[in-house]
Amino acid sequence: MSLDPFLSRLDQLQSDAESAFASASDAAALEEARVVFLGAKKGQLKDIQKMLGGIEKADKPAAGAKLNAVKSAINVAFEDAQQSLSGGSDSGADPTFDPTLPGTRPSLGHIHPITQTISHLTEIMGRMGFEVAEGPEVEDPWHNFVALNIPEDHPARDPLDNFYLATAKDPSGKSSVSAGDEGSQLLRSQTSTVQIRVMKQVQPPIRIISLGRVYRPDAPDATHFPMFHQMEGLLVDTNVTMANLKTVLRVFANNYLGEDVEIRFRPSFFPFTEPSVEVDFLWNGTWIEFGGAGMIDPNVFAAVGYDPEKVSGFAFGLGVERLCMRRHGITDIRDLYSGDLRFLKQF
Ligand code: FA5
Repeated sequence: MSLDPFLSRLDQLQSDAESAFASASDAAALEEARVVFLGAKKGQLKDIQKMLGGIEKADKPAAGAKLNAVKSAINVAFEDAQQSLSGGSDSGADPTFDPTLPGTRPSLGHIHPITQTISHLTEIMGRMGFEVAEGPEVEDPWHNFVALNIPEDHPARDPLDNFYLATAKDPSGKSSVSAGDEGSQLLRSQTSTVQIRVMKQVQPPIRIISLGRVYRPDAPDATHFPMFHQMEGLLVDTNVTMANLKTVLRVFANNYLGEDVEIRFRPSFFPFTEPSVEVDFLWNGTWIEFGGAGMIDPNVFAAVGYDPEKVSGFAFGLGVERLCMRRHGITDIRDLYSGDLRFLKQF
């Protein structure tokens, strides 16, 4: 057989195979076409391959090269058809998608200024050896009042000044426990509850802080919110004095607000400390109250089973929002809880 008719038969075979594969409407039709053109025994390519033996010796290299080229072209056409039938990567691609355009940047969250403040205060107090303790936000009157030496008739226990939770009902539907009774529960009004929980659990020496939410039915204004945070501090050891308390608070204030801050104690009263003080910081020419403090009252030590003759200690409770506001120049506490991202993103 001469070369030319051999080459043109190969060309014809390639174009027949390509159109047969491209027009196969499903996998079964494609397989049928594959057997016709690429079948190992009776496929048309095999038939032509057999004719190679009858080609002139001088033409054999050209005929062989063409045969190989057509063979691989037909195989590629088969694979393409297979891929488009199985919904391959090219099919259904969005023609408007431009992979060279920059992507959409995911919007990153932001840590709330109060959470940032809590981390900062924890870090400063940690450097003075205070470890973090936690306590529940739903408390019983024993931890919130009784153990803190707040007697039954004290105004701080008034149901109108606290968030008591719905009280347990007996089967007749009547309330079996009233707000303020021993079995009732309330949202803690101060983090001083954690002092009691810690002292009930461990023996002195103790050096802890507790940062968390507290709740009071205070009408919101620029410096008050019904939910706010306190940082409670408690140190119990032997021979602890007011000088220790003042030093810890001064070092804390200098670290958090700056070296130029001065600290002042004003005599005050808290049932769980004796003597008690209000803690003021002088900053930019103004004295501002940040919390209360004092030496642990012997009655509190007795309530948790410590011997007041052997141990002494101090406690303090500072308003976290007031500290954060002072440091960042925030003038209205309500801005912290408005959820306005334009405000919050500044910190
Ligand atoms: C107490 O809560 C005492 N437990 C503090 C204490 C702890 C005294 C340990 C002695 C020993 P007081 O009610 O003053 O104290 O509150 C402390 C601070 O919480 C206040 O100075 C103020 O900074 C902050 N605070 C009080 N009420 C609010 C409120 N409604 N909104 C925001 N901050 C408040």
